[in-house]
Amino acid sequence: MEIKAVAASITEVPFGAVVVNLFEGVKEPGGATGAVDEALDGAITSLIADGEIKGKKGELTLIHTLGKLPSARVVIVGLGKQADFNAEVVREVTASSSRYLRKLGIAKGATITHGAGIGGLDPEASAQAMAEGAYLGLYTFKKYFSKKDDDAKTLDEFHLVEQDAAKLPALQAGIERGRIVAEAALLARDLVNEPASVMTPTKMSEVAQEVAQQHGLEVEILDTQRMEELGMGMLLAVAKGSHQPPKMIVLRYLGDPDNADNNLGLVGKGITFDSGGISLKSAGGMWEMKGDMSGAASVIGAMQAIAQLKPRLNVTAIAPCTENMPGGSAQRPGDVIKAMNGKTAEVDNTDAEGRLILADALSYARSLNLKRLVDVATLTGAISIALGDQAIGGFTNNQALYEKVAEAGAKAGERIWQLPMYPEYKDQIKSDIADVKNTGGRGAGSITAALFLAEFSEDTPWVHLDIAGTFMSSKEKGYKVKGATGTPVRTLVNLALDLGG
Ligand code: BES
Ligand code: MN
Ligand code: ZN
Repeated sequence: MEIKAVAASITEVPFGAVVVNLFEGVKEPGGATGAVDEALDGAITSLIADGEIKGKKGELTLIHTLGKLPSARVVIVGLGKQADFNAEVVREVTASSSRYLRKLGIAKGATITHGAGIGGLDPEASAQAMAEGAYLGLYTFKKYFSKKDDDAKTLDEFHLVEQDAAKLPALQAGIERGRIVAEAALLARDLVNEPASVMTPTKMSEVAQEVAQQHGLEVEILDTQRMEELGMGMLLAVAKGSHQPPKMIVLRYLGDPDNADNNLGLVGKGITFDSGGISLKSAGGMWEMKGDMSGAASVIGAMQAIAQLKPRLNVTAIAPCTENMPGGSAQRPGDVIKAMNGKTAEVDNTDAEGRLILADALSYARSLNLKRLVDVATLTGAISIALGDQAIGGFTNNQALYEKVAEAGAKAGERIWQLPMYPEYKDQIKSDIADVKNTGGRGAGSITAALFLAEFSEDTPWVHLDIAGTFMSSKEKGYKVKGATGTPVRTLVNLALDLGG
């Protein structure tokens, strides 16, 4: 699908449908919606008067124009209350209205820019949010259906119609940026939606190499031998149970080559399938663990966008990738393992494997002299108990960096909620036989997991994002569709842009 900004009046363009909007409570629409209403002899005003159109967020109303406009149909999308309006609303309503056009079988549609009028957003921000909403909302993953329906409905062209030609450059810039960040999130969705039989650690490393080649990033893949040399005993211990060789993906973007310390490290958990290992998970819902590499997918996706948007900052992505399987050589509960930074852990539960592979990835990140670290991981089921699917769990050893990450998330519409890391919780991960234990009992499971990671980020400013509640969606809603969400790719991109701005 292509989104184009065009200078024209919404009442003059000839498309299958044009989308206009309405804030909740408005009785007589103005602007572009008002012009369309007038051309339709007040049809919209009278539907409002009859109570059929309320303007509630996401509400969709279809009107056939019967020759009164060059376009055959008008779709009125509700923007909700004006006081609650922001870029996230633009993403959501653009997603639902573009999906609606697709469902109607409209190949070429047009829309006005939501929010650039009385909404008070600047045109570039509106256009970016619209592009993100449309690309993310129209996403499908259908490659495994045997019947390829050639006449599947697709929205091929979506025209952003703007009367004021002076605004076109800003709209085009916004569309371009929105496309880049949305495509990065869609790459992450694709990787997560792939079955684990396909998206192995080796396949992940091949994808990373392709991204690097296409977008001019440096890439390095550490293999088992290199991991052994570096002493990555925790990552290797998890990998032992699988026939798939582990891979540590390293992607580098050099945006400030003269200033090596101006850098950011993005670390993503890449468990391509989490069976639990010897501490085997129960069968129900285990399929979702094909997405336990969502953190890795997010950092790879983010790097793709960063390479194109070029912030003045050096960014290194590190994605430790392995399966967690219960093979004959698998690690056992009770084993003691050692990370690259020399610290030891007692394996209490082989299903707490994410923190083990991240221990070595964080140690490795520190050895590369990375000055700020953000890790992304589907780390704990407990974070879904705490926050459901409405927020990412955030943890930090550095409040200033945390605030930057949280703000980047808020701008992306990817909410992050901070949980405490009180030192008293550390008692829960004390071991009788090693420096730490990889589980902390029933209470505060997400926090004790974060405290385990903190042993390996040590004194480097670090934020941990637990995305176990948000990496998949069980339903279509706003710009999310069923399956992988691609969170928090856009947050990571915003962060790199903010730090390198
Ligand atoms: N990958 C899981 C966490 C998870 C659960 C992600 C549900 C997405 C959805 C992680 O490796 C895990 O198994 N964590 C255990 C930790 C426990 C054994 C301390 C958990 O949350 O139960
Ligand atoms: Mn696990
Ligand atoms: Zn896991």
